[in-house]
Amino acid sequence: MTPTESASSVGPVVSVWAVVPAAGTGERLGAGRPKALVELGGRPMVLWCLRALAEGGVVGVVVAGPGDAAGAAALAASLEAEDLPVPVVVVAGGVDRTASVRAALARVPDDATVVLVHDAARPLVPVEVVRRVVAAVTSGAAGVVPALPVVDTVKQVMGDRVHATVDRGDLVTVQTPQGFRAGVLRSAYAGAVSSATDDAGLVEAAGERVVVVAGDPAAFKVTRPLDLLLAESLVARAPLPSAVAPPRLRTGVGVDTHAFDAGTPCHVAGLSWPEEPAGLAGHSDGDVAAHACCDALLSAAGLGDLGGLVGTDRPEWSGAAGTALLGEAARAVRAAGWDIANVAVQVVGNRPRLGPRRTEAEAALSAACGAPVSVAGTTSDGLGFPGRGEGLTAVATALLVRGLSTLAG
Ligand code: CTP
Ligand code: MG
Repeated sequence: MTPTESASSVGPVVSVWAVVPAAGTGERLGAGRPKALVELGGRPMVLWCLRALAEGGVVGVVVAGPGDAAGAAALAASLEAEDLPVPVVVVAGGVDRTASVRAALARVPDDATVVLVHDAARPLVPVEVVRRVVAAVTSGAAGVVPALPVVDTVKQVMGDRVHATVDRGDLVTVQTPQGFRAGVLRSAYAGAVSSATDDAGLVEAAGERVVVVAGDPAAFKVTRPLDLLLAESLVARAPLPSAVAPPRLRTGVGVDTHAFDAGTPCHVAGLSWPEEPAGLAGHSDGDVAAHACCDALLSAAGLGDLGGLVGTDRPEWSGAAGTALLGEAARAVRAAGWDIANVAVQVVGNRPRLGPRRTEAEAALSAACGAPVSVAGTTSDGLGFPGRGEGLTAVATALLVRGLSTLAG
C-alpha cells in the first residue's frame, strides 16, 4: 500500500484517508448475509461509497470487513474485481462498530493527516458531502459531522406517556462521513473506554470541538428492507459506471479421486455402504462425490477449492464427513452473496452401485448443501483405475445465481 499524497490548494500537504466500517451483520435488513455484501444495482453495497470517497479527495481506504474468514475473503475478492481508483485494504472488523473502526484505524498510514469514517451502510453519499467534510477539517476543525435538520416533531416519553415535546429547532441528525484531524481521532479511540454509535461522540467526549456541515438526504443509512428498496430505485436511475457488468449466473466444476482402502468404512455420496469390502483412503471419509460437489460450488463462486477452505489452518475440519464439508462450502458461497441453483455429480467406478440408492444419496447431499443435488453413477467400461477397481472418481458441476435472496429480502 503506497499512499499518494494530495495537496490542498493552500497550506500544508494533506493526506486524507477513510475508514469504512463494514463488518455489521445487517440484522435489521435481514438479507441473510453481511449488509456490506448485499447487492445494490448488482454490486456489493460497500463498493458504492468507495467511489464517492475517492472522488471526494480520499487517497486510500481501510475497510473493516466481516470478522469471519469467509465473509472477509468474499469482500476482499469482490473489491479486487473492481477497478478502484485508490488503494483499498480490507481488515477484519470487530464485535461492534467502535471495535471495527479501531481495527481499521490501526492500518491507516501514520502520515495520514485527515481521517474520514464512513459507514458502508450509507452507499449513496454524494461526493459533495465528502468534499464539505474534508474542506472543514482542512480548514482547521478538529472534528466534522454532516447533519440534517430534524423533520418530525420529537417527543420525550416515559413508557407510553408523553413527558414533553422537545424543541427541535436546535436538534440535528448526523450522518457520515465524519471527518477528523488524524491525531484527534487516534487519541479519542486510544482513550475510549466504551463504544459509541458515532465517532464524533468519542471525539466530543475527549473534549474536542466538533462542527457540523450540511448533510444530504441521499446519504441515508440502509438499515431496513424499505431503505434497500429506496436505494435500488435511486441506483436504477444512475448505475455505477463499470467496464464489466457483474455476472448474475456462474457455473463451476469439481473433480475428486480417492483410492480404495480395504480397512476403511465406505462413504460415498453422503451415504455409508456397510456391505462394501473397501472404503476410500484419505484424511476425511473419502467421499469423492461430496468433495467434488464442494469444489464445484467453490469454483463457481471463485472461492478457490476445498483445500483452501478447510485446509491445515482449520484443523477442526480434519477428518470431517463429506456432508459436513459440503455444508461448509455452501455456507461460504452464500456468504459471498450467491444462491445455489443446483449441483450435479457423477461418480465413476464399478462399486458401490449407486442406482438403487440414488434417491437416498440425492436427499443426503441436498440436505447437506440446502439445494438440489442430482447424483448419477457410471462405470469406465473396465478402463483405467476405476475400471481396475483401484478407486473412485467423481465429477460435479454447480450453478450459482446472484441476487435472488436480495430481491426476496
Ligand atoms: N459495523 C461494523 N462492525 C460492527 C457493527 C457495525 O463495522 N460490528 C458497521 C456496519 O457494517 C455499518 C455501520 O457500522 O456500515 C453502521 O451499522 P448498522 O447500520 O447498525 O449496520 P449493522 O450493524 O450491519 O446492522 P444491524 O444493526 O441491523 O445488524
Ligand atoms: Mg448495528
